[in-house]
Amino acid sequence: MTLKPSIRLSHAGFHVFDVDRMVDFFTTVYGLRVTDRGVGGETGEIVFLCADPRDHHQLVLYEGRTSREGVHYNHMSFEVNDLDRLRQIHRALQDYPGVTNVLTMNHGVSWAVYCHDPEGNRTEAFVDTPWYVNQPYYADNLDLSLSDGEIAEITRRMLETEPTAEPVERWRARFAEELGLGPAQWPSA
Ligand SMILES: [Fe+2]
Repeated sequence: MTLKPSIRLSHAGFHVFDVDRMVDFFTTVYGLRVTDRGVGGETGEIVFLCADPRDHHQLVLYEGRTSREGVHYNHMSFEVNDLDRLRQIHRALQDYPGVTNVLTMNHGVSWAVYCHDPEGNRTEAFVDTPWYVNQPYYADNLDLSLSDGEIAEITRRMLETEPTAEPVERWRARFAEELGLGPAQWPSA
């Protein structure tokens, strides 16, 4: 019997006015650590935060919030258990009425499918790759019609020239140590 679900809610992303103050809030109050930060997209800096070495990020803060009305939600993300499940979701999105902006993305650390749901909210499903690379990282080379092996090989070759790329287990071990966790406290699934 496996206890690993086929899909799990993974992380949340929000737009913020003052990224440094919000990073301070989540690191000071909740003990999250900054796993990566950098400039990506149109709005400014993106900061990835986490407190679990099994994940690269649990919270993503996006600089560039423009309105105080409501919570500035960026996206919600589901982790799925393999590329076949991601392909199934990708196909279902093509057919679902009102869904727009369906796109695939290779983040190096993950293979992802994004969409805007029928009410326009950005939603992601992804599967982890066996690698870490400095985030944010975007490549538009994820072709889900290829085999799992071909997708992995394209990604491996893409990361060969990235100085920060390494096996994700190495990154996890280092992050676990930084958090004061031993390997027994974060058994990989
Ligand atoms: Fe995401």
